[in-house]
Order: sequence, then C-alpha cells, then structure tokens
Amino acid sequence: MDLQDKVALVTGAGARLGQAVAQQLGQLGMRVIIHYHHSEKAAKQTVKGLPGGESQHLLMQADLKEFSAIKELVCKAEEQSGPISVLINNAADFFPTPLFSTTEEEWDHLFALNLKAPFFLAQTVGEGMKSRGEGNIINMVDVSADRPWVSFLPYCTTKAGLVSLTKGLARALSPEVQVNGIAPGTVLPPPNHSEMDLSSSVERSLLKRIGLAEDIVQAVEYLLKSDFVTGTILPVDGGRAVY
Ligand SMILES: NC(=O)c1ccc[n+]([C@@H]2O[C@H](COP(=O)([O-])OP(=O)(O)OC[C@H]3O[C@@H](n4cnc5c(N)ncnc54)[C@H](OP(=O)(O)O)[C@@H]3O)[C@@H](O)[C@H]2O)c1
Repeated sequence: MDLQDKVALVTGAGARLGQAVAQQLGQLGMRVIIHYHHSEKAAKQTVKGLPGGESQHLLMQADLKEFSAIKELVCKAEEQSGPISVLINNAADFFPTPLFSTTEEEWDHLFALNLKAPFFLAQTVGEGMKSRGEGNIINMVDVSADRPWVSFLPYCTTKAGLVSLTKGLARALSPEVQVNGIAPGTVLPPPNHSEMDLSSSVERSLLKRIGLAEDIVQAVEYLLKSDFVTGTILPVDGGRAVY
C-alpha cells in the first residue's frame, strides 16, 4: 500500500509500542490518529514530534471498553481526518490473573479491551475500507496466544481469540483489505517486571535478548508495504515461539 498522506488510526498510541508505531507512520508520511486512554500528556508530545504536528495529526481520547466509544471515535476521527486506511489494534491490558483468584470483572475487562474492541474497530473501519477498495489492519497479538502462561490465562485467551479474529477478518474483508497480526515476545516489559522475569525471557529466546520497539516498528512497516501478505501472524520474538 502506498502510505503517503493516508490516514492511520493507532490505538493506545500515547505510550510504549503504540507511540513508537505512531511515530514511524508519521515519518512514513501518513496522517496519524493518535488514540489514547489516560496518557494525554505523552500523546500530545507524540503529536508534536511528528512531521506537520497538530496540523497533520489528530489526538483522540476514548475508553475502548465502551462499545459506544468505539463508534464515536471512528466517526469523529473520519470526520476530521478523512477515511481511515490503516488500523493498528494496539491498545490492550495485561496483568496477572491466577486461576483461583480471577474475578468476573477482570475477565470481562480483558475481553472487552483486548478482543471485543479490535473486533468492533475492524467492523467499523473495515466496511469503508472494503467499499473504497483499500485498507490494512494489524492486530497486536502475543507469543503467549499459542503457549498460554498459567498466571495470565484470560489475557492469553484474548490474544488467542485475536489470532482467530485476524484470520477471519482477512477472509471477510478480502480481497480489498489485508489483515495481519504481529506476535511480539518480550519487547518492552511492564514496569513491574522483575530482573528474574527479564533474564528468564532472554534465556527463553533463541537470539538471547529481549526485543526493542524498533523490532515491532519494522514489522509494522513491512506488513503495511507488502501487497501479498494477509491472514498471517508474524512472530517478532527472537525465536521464543520455537524455543
Ligand atoms: N510490550 C511487550 O513486550 C508486548 C509483548 C507481547 C504483546 N504485546 C502487545 O503489544 C501491544 C502493545 O504493547 P504495550 O506493552 O506497549 O501495551 P501497554 O503499554 O500495556 O498498553 C497499550 C495502551 O493500551 C491503552 N489502554 C489501556 N486501557 C485502555 C482502555 N480502557 N481504553 C483504551 N485504551 C486503553 C493504554 O493507553 P493510555 O496509556 O493512554 O492509558 C496503553 O498505552 C499490546 O496489544 C500488547 O498486548 C506487547
């Protein structure tokens, strides 16, 4: 896909991997809708750092657990920026949920944000993409979708669902729209990740390092520029999936 001047919506783009992806899409000449939930300050900084700043890019706040917020986000974003050609479903939550203490609220929270929101975002932008004859959707999955961690079963299950959703959307939106997933290994560990967790992640990767945001950004750029890849999940994990 030719990315120049096209509009990309990146969810959870105020911080961490989403921010790095949004910055790269801006550098590639796209007009970026930077969605955030709580990271307003960082999201504003992201926009300022992009070529063209606020005149080219848009900031949108939304709680993606709310169904109505999803439709409203897309509607307002397209009103102001024009049709969305690229959707990066990046926003997610991740926290331990040991089997015997997980609550229904935690389960519902993870499923609403990590799986229901990507589905309805894809539904909302996918229809326009298909009718315009062009679009590209990337879902941020996780290497744990195939090898679930016992203390994170609901999270891993949302990501396994997102793998299935990626393949199904690729079929439903073909041939106009490409839909793929990226399955990172440990890239930016959460702030509460211990040194021990970190060295175990390094140990369990074939390339003996954790990933950099740049590794994910390169994968996003590859998938957006490729015209012959759809319905697949690209592991970016230093070989952890085959360890
Ligand atoms: N980091 C890794 O090593 C790694 C590994 C495997 C998979 N992944 C996947 O890659 C993606 C990005 O990873 P990350 O570590 O950068 O993610 P993250 O920091 O855990 O979360 C990304 C964003 O999700 C947004 N978010 C949280 N709750 C929300 C809500 N209710 N409504 C809307 N947005 C909400 C947050 O926005 P605000 O900050 O604005 O509140 C946050 O910045 C995620 O899908 C993650 O599962 C990451």
